[in-house]
Amino acid sequence: MKLFDVYPLNNITITKALGSYLWDDKGVQYLDMYGGHAVISIGHTNAHWVKRIEEQLEQIAFYSNSINIPIQQELATKLGKVSGKEDYQLFLCNSGAEANENALKLASFHNGKKKAIAFSKSFHGRTSLAVAATDNKSIVAPINETENIIFLPFNDETALTKCFEENGNDIAAVIIEGIQGVGGINVASASFLQLIRALCNQYNAVYIADSVQCGYGRSGKFFAHDWAGVNADIYSMAKGMGNGFPIGGILIAPHIQPKHGMLGTTFGGNQLACAAALAVLEVIESEKLIDHANELGNYLVEELQAIDDLENVRGRGLMIGFDVPEHLKDLKKKLLFEYKIFTGEAKPNVIRLLPSMAITKQQVDDFLGTLKKAIAVIKEEQKVAV
Ligand SMILES: Cc1ncc(COP(=O)(O)O)c(C=O)c1O
Repeated sequence: MKLFDVYPLNNITITKALGSYLWDDKGVQYLDMYGGHAVISIGHTNAHWVKRIEEQLEQIAFYSNSINIPIQQELATKLGKVSGKEDYQLFLCNSGAEANENALKLASFHNGKKKAIAFSKSFHGRTSLAVAATDNKSIVAPINETENIIFLPFNDETALTKCFEENGNDIAAVIIEGIQGVGGINVASASFLQLIRALCNQYNAVYIADSVQCGYGRSGKFFAHDWAGVNADIYSMAKGMGNGFPIGGILIAPHIQPKHGMLGTTFGGNQLACAAALAVLEVIESEKLIDHANELGNYLVEELQAIDDLENVRGRGLMIGFDVPEHLKDLKKKLLFEYKIFTGEAKPNVIRLLPSMAITKQQVDDFLGTLKKAIAVIKEEQKVAV
């Protein structure tokens, strides 16, 4: 049987990983500035994480949500403490798309309304509603098309206010990433998020903070939305939550009431996934990784801004992007294949940096040194070619 060929692959086979390093099947070492798409939060194969999963595996890996699963409450308690949202409620699922799907559905159950506002360059996942709220027509199948999503320009306060004035009674939810990831590292302004909060209050709509990529400490606060100083009603989470073990979830504000049967999943909240997620929070706490991400991120942004050839360096914490000018268009490929550094990208010309929050200053300096060298080499090669 063949694999269904949907991923454009780099011809590299990674067989081992530790911290911020990866090794391929020939033993070649790579520096991971991409974190497997922002998933690796506490570092690859972190010893505490491995031990927690192994110990859980020997007890029980899975039983359905028809019995008591105390480790779910353990996770909820820890998550409340580390995120500072202790009065919120936790619903567990398996992925980012599923988290957003549940968030949108719950918002609509809650206020009985049908429409949601999403923004230009958004990415919320590939399931039915999540993809409908994603600003990329090429991944929306005809069956996913709906009139219930209204797209507005990102960070445009006038457009948002006008939309609420015209459709406020129909708006169930506003869904927004605190920092857009797939869209190219675009930071939502504090005043925009504050306006969303105010309008959602005024019109009884639900503010959904998609924190699948920008959450879990990556931005230097637990949720990137926290930088605006207002709370959302629902936070969706996934990527960093399990450090590679599949788990997602939503944090739900206390005023949103549950009802039996309203949401559900077979695998969500299984014992093994909860053990992985608990290990992540324990390491985030004990190693103070959120502060570390903030400090190292500030340093990295400053150093990148000092590199003349890079344009529009932006981001927060360890979620950073910059535009690559036309004369350096091969930079990402060169970093990967010649200098053995994984980075992320966003079309058409953005390099995204999403390393583990446990990356060291030395590794960041190694990256910066290599980046400068790669840029110099590309420019030299161009001179020779002329
Ligand atoms: C902001 C955001 N939301 C949702 C998703 C979808 O998550 P998943 O791929 O786990 O379904 C992603 C994935 O990249 C994302 O970046």
